[in-house]
Amino acid sequence: MKNIYLNIYKPNHINLKKAKKILENNNILAVPTETVYGLAGNAYSEKAIKKIFKLKKRPFFNPLIIHFKNLKEVEKDILLNNKFKKLHKAFCPGPITFILKKRKKSKISKLATAGKNTVAIRIPKHNVVKKLLNIIKFPLAAPSANISTKLSPTSAQDVFDEFGKKINFIMDGKRSSIGLESTIIDLTGKPTILRQGSITLNKIQKVLSCKIKLTKKSKKNKSPGQLKLHYSPGIPVEINKNYARKNQALIVFGKKFKHRKNYFNLSTKGSLKEAANNLYQIMRKIKKRKFNSIAVVKIPNKGIGCAINERLKKAANY
Ligand code: TXA
Ligand code: MG
Repeated sequence: MKNIYLNIYKPNHINLKKAKKILENNNILAVPTETVYGLAGNAYSEKAIKKIFKLKKRPFFNPLIIHFKNLKEVEKDILLNNKFKKLHKAFCPGPITFILKKRKKSKISKLATAGKNTVAIRIPKHNVVKKLLNIIKFPLAAPSANISTKLSPTSAQDVFDEFGKKINFIMDGKRSSIGLESTIIDLTGKPTILRQGSITLNKIQKVLSCKIKLTKKSKKNKSPGQLKLHYSPGIPVEINKNYARKNQALIVFGKKFKHRKNYFNLSTKGSLKEAANNLYQIMRKIKKRKFNSIAVVKIPNKGIGCAINERLKKAANY
């Protein structure tokens, strides 16, 4: 991608040092992760956290994910349990977030955790955010780098499209390889998946050798993204459709769909992994092309398809 905007920076040594300075001064920036781009600030700084909430227009009751460089750092702020240790061994660093109890002496900003005694923690895998975490002395609070209720960004350009010059520093780490937000699992009681992702329920069950629950819609506040409309491209979305109306785009999946002007294929070869990676990019493209709404065909509800369907249902306010 061409660096035509002054606030998109290549992740070289000099720019990593610049990013470090920005964070140490309680300012915020956008960083790439393997799932989606995050809007990051010092998790120990109330001042930095306030800036994140303000820029995202995020309600203060909705806590942020705290990103750590490794287990040793997590342990300083968080009480670990055996289930966490098993899942950590299997999947970290990677696209999974754990809800755990906060230590009493933890320095994590109360604003970041919305005053809760639990914290969402993640150890990301993306090379660039790892490099950044390695040169700073604090964890990073980083929600997805989008305005609240909108689509998460999966490239530096997406972050720019979302915030323009309201953000001074966007670190470019190319397209996020997964393209959907991390799986969130609550380990403070019976393991419960609060948000589905590329690390699926089945994979987690195998590691823990026990049945895992998915949160029900009704358990409002515990589950992330429970604000009614979420993952929204800014135009109406209708799911499980077979055709598009006038001025409507149709998101399709698999090789049986021939190319048409208003058809957007998530994966012509029928790969759910590829579909997950393309979902937000395609929705953004459709919005830019001025279609007035989006219809989506039925997507297979298996593997990462479950995470795709979870996002689509919320985008459709279903
Ligand atoms: O892939 C990801 O997880 C990305 C990248 C940047 O790491 N981050 C991300 O953050 O998706 P965010 O803030 O957009 O979504 C985090 C969700 C929120 O919906 C929030 O409700 C939930 O995590 N969450 C945070 N702390 C929680 C807690 N203590 N209990 C339950 N849910 C929590
Ligand atoms: Mg988000």
